[in-house]
Amino acid sequence: MAEPNPSFYPPPSHTVVGTTLEEHILEGMRGAPASTGDFTSLLNAISLAVRIIHSRVRAAGLAGLFGYTGDTNVHGEQVQKLDEFANEVLCTVIERSGRCAVLASEELAEARMCNPDAKYMVAFDPLDGSSNIDVNVSIGTIFSIFRAPDGSVSTASVLRPGRELLAAGYAVYGSATTLVLSTGQGVHEFTLDLNAGEFFLSRPNLRCPSRGKTYSINEGNFPYWTKEIQRWSQFVKSEDKTLGLPMGHRYVGSLVADAHRTLLKGGIFAYPADRKNADGKLRLLYEAQPMAFLIEQAGGLATDGVREILDIVPTDAHAKVPLILGSRDDVNVYKEFLTGKRG
Ligand code: AHG
Ligand code: MN
Ligand code: MN
Repeated sequence: MAEPNPSFYPPPSHTVVGTTLEEHILEGMRGAPASTGDFTSLLNAISLAVRIIHSRVRAAGLAGLFGYTGDTNVHGEQVQKLDEFANEVLCTVIERSGRCAVLASEELAEARMCNPDAKYMVAFDPLDGSSNIDVNVSIGTIFSIFRAPDGSVSTASVLRPGRELLAAGYAVYGSATTLVLSTGQGVHEFTLDLNAGEFFLSRPNLRCPSRGKTYSINEGNFPYWTKEIQRWSQFVKSEDKTLGLPMGHRYVGSLVADAHRTLLKGGIFAYPADRKNADGKLRLLYEAQPMAFLIEQAGGLATDGVREILDIVPTDAHAKVPLILGSRDDVNVYKEFLTGKRG
């Protein structure tokens, strides 16, 4: 992708009209050689899909979009109507953009060839946090963009390490609909203006604090964790004012919501491996990699406990990985417990 124009940051102050998502992308690449607009078109397509999904999420209860389709996906999970809808919207707009060579989705058994001459590949989780749809708790959409290989491209081309990502982002359908995006030059938050139907820059250059006050993990899995993780969990709940303990516990059960809070306020999110899920529950390609790209761009860390997430190559489109991400200091403490240096 063309090098963004560094003079763009911080963004120009707009008094009457904010900076749109498209302006932000275009400004960031102004004057860069060989920027053909394909990347911008692809991001515009993803933004359109997110706005369509947003409109259905807001009225899912009235649009008959609660509940299940009756199908099970490649993970053996019950497919929710909104999962399927979001997947169809993203597949349609991304394929129709003509800018995508290969797309991979949580809701597709296999990655799919689109335009073999296109320059980019997209992986996405169309609807993250599905278990929260019917109870009106924040859910989201996660996506990442790779450059397609020169020469021949196949569905396996998308199985690349996160270090090669050009961009990643997520939408949170919460009290507001926000889109958090990085193209490798910092992390920027856009908020959907409902009346204009447009994303405007709301918080540029998000930074993850070096340590935070909350830990985020499904404590219900305690019996299945290794001894080391159990000891870490007891440590963060112990009382030690000098260490800022106990940490507060926050767990939404939607990765986008838990990761968004952790990125903004600091702390740690963990979905470790356990006796039920030997590789954890979250998928590397369209959940862990994009979140790791974003948290690292914001100054945080993302690991499987041993390796950095962005160094891990997916073995297949749905390969799972333990995901621990957040503030550098908090993630490093977790790693010390995991490797037995502490505890
Ligand atoms: P998805 O709805 O895309 O399958 O993702 C759900 C994931 C993730 O959003 C969340 O962090 C995790 O499932 C919660 O799992 P538990 O309910 O097992 O804690
Ligand atoms: Mn998910
Ligand atoms: Mn999902």
